[in-house]
Amino acid sequence: MAMGTLPACVVDIGTGYTKLGYAGNTEPQFIMPSCIAVKESASVGSKVAKGVDDLDFFIGDEAQDKPNYSVKWPVRHGIVEDWDLMEKFMEQIIFKYMRSEPEDHHFLMTEPPLNTPENREYLAEIMFESFNVPGLYIAVQAVLALAASWTSRSVGDRVLTGTVIDSGDGVTHVIPVAEGYVIGSCIKHIPIAGRDITYFIQQLLRERETGIPPEQSMEVAKAVKERFCYICPDIAKEFAKYEADPKKWIKVYEGLNSVTRQKFNIDIGHERFLGPEIFFHPEFSNPDFTNPISTVVDDVIQNCPIDVRRPLYKNVVLSGGSTMFKDFGRRVQRDLKRIVDARLNISKQLSSGTITPKPMEVQVISHSMQRYAVWFGGSMLASTAEFYKVCHTKADYDERGPSICRYNPVFGTMQ
Ligand SMILES: Nc1ncnc2c1ncn2[C@@H]1O[C@H](COP(=O)(O)OP(=O)(O)OP(=O)(O)O)[C@@H](O)[C@H]1O
Ligand SMILES: [Mg+2]
Repeated sequence: MAMGTLPACVVDIGTGYTKLGYAGNTEPQFIMPSCIAVKESASVGSKVAKGVDDLDFFIGDEAQDKPNYSVKWPVRHGIVEDWDLMEKFMEQIIFKYMRSEPEDHHFLMTEPPLNTPENREYLAEIMFESFNVPGLYIAVQAVLALAASWTSRSVGDRVLTGTVIDSGDGVTHVIPVAEGYVIGSCIKHIPIAGRDITYFIQQLLRERETGIPPEQSMEVAKAVKERFCYICPDIAKEFAKYEADPKKWIKVYEGLNSVTRQKFNIDIGHERFLGPEIFFHPEFSNPDFTNPISTVVDDVIQNCPIDVRRPLYKNVVLSGGSTMFKDFGRRVQRDLKRIVDARLNISKQLSSGTITPKPMEVQVISHSMQRYAVWFGGSMLASTAEFYKVCHTKADYDERGPSICRYNPVFGTMQ
């Protein structure tokens, strides 16, 4: 068998964006919105409408703005909700984008934490039966993100124990991982991610800047967010800085009105730091959720078994587009350290100084692959020989059925 001669395909389908490419590369070949445009009349999944109609759909950027088509997002909060659409989506990914023969490539696909075993079976069915792939491995996103952080450290530290903060478009998860296994019962969600920051900036701009065409306000807010926002150490001081030297801090966004084709300029001020500040002060945008991200990370680790807490504090790893703000890692590190130190101080005081607790090392790892950490981790692991050993094979599938994919052995802690 020509196993391993052609690179594996690595596909990370997120709520907002799908990243795909061949294993061994440092960047995905395609990053596209995880959406699909289908003809409005065709009822999806009905057995009668097979035929030409069935091929009439678009995915990703091509799916946007197609008249008479309706745009669907088959993934919600990281989990696939519509498998008929997912199969179509994969069909174009494989044939139209990767331009690959699926019989020739092993596939590494990703799943969010707490995905169900049934979902793994559905995916196995599609991959093995519809596309005839020779091998499939379903990897947990957080574990891949941990592997991706190896780029920023020496080989000796290549461990799969750490706390992953994965913040994408739709949801932020804090996921503790011990030796490649997710500690599922301790995962926490934070209802604040990229989309919420975009909405928040949109509101701030709406109150102040009147020159933005209303139908473009979302796209402007998103561009402002990605281009100009950063995390500050202290909002009060930051306001003072802008006050003292506005020229230095206020940026100008240049836009083009899509209807009149006229240029417009808007000033970008406090939004720059207030936008992503909602990670640390969620109550600014969401009255129902008030826990700063650093408190959530601390809670997660405190809920874990005591013997893994030290390594979890020592290896907090960032993943996903919404961790890209400048100084995000630094701020989480500082705030988390404060919480941890305060707790140690209390126990010292309670013991009237008789116990001096061992200091806790807190380390948040930022690295250059953060934006596509999950995909990159997959690309790295799927180019090792070990990958082909842990893959479920077509032969196994034919013999034992989809249930083989309910479980995927941990790998990647290579010597
Ligand atoms: N440089 C940047 N600075 C800040 N935010 C960014 C940057 N680049 C991308 N983003 C934001 O990251 C988000 C997309 O991240 P990502 O691709 O990790 O999400 P996803 O995997 O589709 O979603 P999820 O993980 O929630 O399923 C978007 O909200 C986007 O605006
Ligand atoms: Mg993601």
